[in-house]
Amino acid sequence: MSIGYFNGDYIQLDQAVVPIDERGHQFGDGVYEVIRVYDGKPFMLDEHLRRLITSARAIKLQVEQSEEHFKALILEAVQKSNLLDCDVYLQITRGIAVRKHLFPEAPLSVSMTVRPMRVIEDSVRENGVTAMFHTDERWANCYIKSLNLLPNILAKQTAQDRGCFEAILVKDGYVTEGTSSNVYILKDGTVYTTPLSKQILSGVTRMAVEKVTHSLGIPFIEKMFTPDELLGADEVFMTSTSSEILPIVKVDEKDINQGNAGELTLKMHKKFKELIK
Ligand code: PDD
Repeated sequence: MSIGYFNGDYIQLDQAVVPIDERGHQFGDGVYEVIRVYDGKPFMLDEHLRRLITSARAIKLQVEQSEEHFKALILEAVQKSNLLDCDVYLQITRGIAVRKHLFPEAPLSVSMTVRPMRVIEDSVRENGVTAMFHTDERWANCYIKSLNLLPNILAKQTAQDRGCFEAILVKDGYVTEGTSSNVYILKDGTVYTTPLSKQILSGVTRMAVEKVTHSLGIPFIEKMFTPDELLGADEVFMTSTSSEILPIVKVDEKDINQGNAGELTLKMHKKFKELIK
């Protein structure tokens, strides 16, 4: 069963518990993580919690709780949900205080949801998804997993309105990442992805992809690439906690790999599933 959590209490998802004067609600003043649980075990939880703490520090959130505390909280919530395969959303904000821009003297708010895993059907993965290019209109600190996602939301909705699954963001002539994913190209047997910087999120699935490529003997190179290079690639794929490794077969109406999911991409996904086990 799906459950929620807010500041110490387990709640129904539709229960009203967040006061009007809450910084996440009013300012998006907080950070979050999305963690996937396979067969009762959170996948790469340490990496997610490390990134959560990095994000929190970057926006000067004084998180007193340890990574161990959050680990125990997540495990407790998953257990209470009775779900074996689920998605955990964890959010920390600057707390509850009368609306004013300056940091308040208030305890941080911690909220969480646990819901059944949103599985991508095998047939969708095997056929691949379509995408479009979109200007990256986000701010200068996209390495922070901040609640402020307006440019991501607008780009993703534009993609959906044009019949695409994802928008691939482009800044100064180079691909950065997707609205909620990292993006890769495969050319002559080598995987290329955008180097880590303040412009992109350091994806946890991206770390897993690095491991997967090594185990398959596929070179993994961090290098900027242009939309044209992407269109000329042998294979294109995206990754995220919720999509895992997903082939992209058409971008801006142009076929990649004749519109077929890349063979190596699917092989990497198979290996990724083995890694989970
Ligand atoms: N999104 N880039 C962005 C902008 C993201 O929002 C995400 C994840 C990723 C991939 O990160 P990871 O592999 O750690 O999930 C890259 C999550 C799933 C979300 O916002 O729902």
